[in-house]
Amino acid sequence: MTGSIVLFGPPGAGKGTQAGKIVELTGKPQVSTGDMLRAAVKAGSPMGLAAKEYMDAGLLVPDKVIIGLIKERLQHDDAKKGVLFDGFPRTIPQAESLEKIAEVTSVISIEVPDDAIVDRIVGRRMDPETGDIYHVSFKPAPSEIQDRLIQRPDDTEETVRARLEAYHAQTAPLADWYSDKGLLVSVDGNNSIEKVGDLVEAAVIQLS
Ligand code: AP5
Repeated sequence: MTGSIVLFGPPGAGKGTQAGKIVELTGKPQVSTGDMLRAAVKAGSPMGLAAKEYMDAGLLVPDKVIIGLIKERLQHDDAKKGVLFDGFPRTIPQAESLEKIAEVTSVISIEVPDDAIVDRIVGRRMDPETGDIYHVSFKPAPSEIQDRLIQRPDDTEETVRARLEAYHAQTAPLADWYSDKGLLVSVDGNNSIEKVGDLVEAAVIQLS
């Protein structure tokens, strides 16, 4: 399959959880703007420090910053045959910029209602050593790594509500934008992690 895939959905939909399966099936590298921004925050770069204020408030980082990050990332050799975008684009201007620099062949949208999102986000835990994603109830981590798990600073109930607001105002309209281009494939994300994985796998196979 040539071209890039966009993994789309609200915060906490399960994009990061399911990305590995798509990477495995397609061989395309995962390009997560959230992960890139968190790496910049950790490195303490001026861009990272500026982005942190937006992220902690649950707001989108300005388009110019995100488009700059993506342009730079797409120069890498492993991006030549297309990538899996996770959490990008998130606004119509981002999608319009992307159109000029890469070919998107499909958009897999994981659909989850708002009332399921808050529990998922507040209970999320991350393994800082491997990047693996867990959940206190839905995907408990093995007991031997419990001590090193961390919680993202933006995974509070208050911030998730702001993130959902930003999603509905700025990101959700992209579903129609991509649907009008015949690229959107929807997956019901309001199922168990395993079931969503099966649906995502079926969607990828159908696209290839
Ligand atoms: P980002 O890191 O992209 O966060 P997000 O889109 O809000 O997505 P999440 O990482 O929160 O959720 P996910 O869908 O990956 O869910 P996960 O698999 O972890 O962005 C963070 C911030 O960076 C943004 O708020 C913004 O400030 C900035 N940013 C990033 N990209 C940007 C852009 N393009 N433009 C502007 N700003 C940008 O799952 C969540 C939890 O649920 C886990 O605990 C998991 O175990 C559990 N779970 C997963 N699937 C299921 C299931 N089926 N059932 C039960 N539990 C499940």
